[in-house]
Amino acid sequence: MQQRKAVLVSRPQGEPKASDFRIVDAELPDPAAGQVAVAVEHLSIDAFIRTTLDARDGHHGSMDLNAPVTALGVGRVVASASDDLAVGDAVFGPLGAQTHAVLPAAMLRKLDVSDVPARAYLGALGMTTGLTAYAGMVCVGDVGPDDTVVVSAAAGAVGSVACQIAGIKGARVIGIAGGADKCAFLTETIGCDAAVDYKAGNLSKALKAAAPDGIDLFFDNVGGEVLDAVLENIAKEARVVICGAISQYNDMEHVRGPANYLRIPERNARMLGFTVDHYMARFPEMEADIREWMKGGRLDLPEHVVEGIDHFPDAIVMLMSGGNRGKLLVAP
Ligand SMILES: NC(=O)c1ccc[n+]([C@@H]2O[C@H](COP(=O)([O-])OP(=O)(O)OC[C@H]3O[C@@H](n4cnc5c(N)ncnc54)[C@H](OP(=O)(O)O)[C@@H]3O)[C@@H](O)[C@H]2O)c1
Repeated sequence: MQQRKAVLVSRPQGEPKASDFRIVDAELPDPAAGQVAVAVEHLSIDAFIRTTLDARDGHHGSMDLNAPVTALGVGRVVASASDDLAVGDAVFGPLGAQTHAVLPAAMLRKLDVSDVPARAYLGALGMTTGLTAYAGMVCVGDVGPDDTVVVSAAAGAVGSVACQIAGIKGARVIGIAGGADKCAFLTETIGCDAAVDYKAGNLSKALKAAAPDGIDLFFDNVGGEVLDAVLENIAKEARVVICGAISQYNDMEHVRGPANYLRIPERNARMLGFTVDHYMARFPEMEADIREWMKGGRLDLPEHVVEGIDHFPDAIVMLMSGGNRGKLLVAP
């Protein structure tokens, strides 16, 4: 059987370009003892992928040149040399940017697809998406009905779920996104009470107008200037939850820290960071809550699916330049 892969051929300097990647065909090896072959159905385009393209060995490691790009995915087992997984099983794992993968069964999770499609385990039920939003909003941020909440990159995958969870918990939710269309998406589809376009200029003033009594909880996916504008507007005893800082990922050698950090002591506020894997023991509880909200029609994560492994590089470029609404997936 043949497999097709998107491999990294040059490390991006700044913004990634499609020419940093190449599409190659190869023979799919037979699974060795304990391994399975998987036909990949969907790949998750996550912000952390950008940091793995650098030579610098960051939090998520550095991937090798000429290897399939690091990516989490879901697929079906098509050949098995393992007692733990059978042909036809739906699985999740580090499948990589390719049409087929051969991996040890121990690296894969068998999925229950009786009431949700497999790709939901990359989106609303995904570790890097829905569970991240839950961990940051509930476990770290302790969101409640009296909070005015702001979420940055709110129209993206983590942000869209974070906004909806805050709404379910009774908070007033303000999303920050780039452009009028994304702001309309936030209020009309995601259910935000208000949306602010950070590209329209003077974000701090716009936030002041949207949250005149101050921001109690900020869920930050962006960092940089957006974080500074929100810090200017935090309420007394605010919680600032650092989920990520995508505005910094194209130049991790020169990460810009917040200039307005003195608002933290002045307003008796707290700045807290987290990685989703730290909350692994709570994943079953988080998944159960999200499933209930999905079933009850209270939580829905729109998907943006790019067709074809040949377009995997375009999807990476798209994520880093704000082309996606909701969860960005590639269907190889
Ligand atoms: N802590 C954890 O364990 C954990 C786990 C998973 C993800 N994360 C973090 O969650 C965040 C969201 O990731 P995601 O995979 O869900 O991506 P995403 O939000 O679906 O997509 C990224 C979005 O970020 C915005 N963006 C890109 N560059 C920007 C810039 N320079 N300034 C402002 N906004 C920019 C774009 O939206 P606009 O068009 O609105 O600019 C883009 O659509 C990332 O920071 C990621 O690192 C953290």
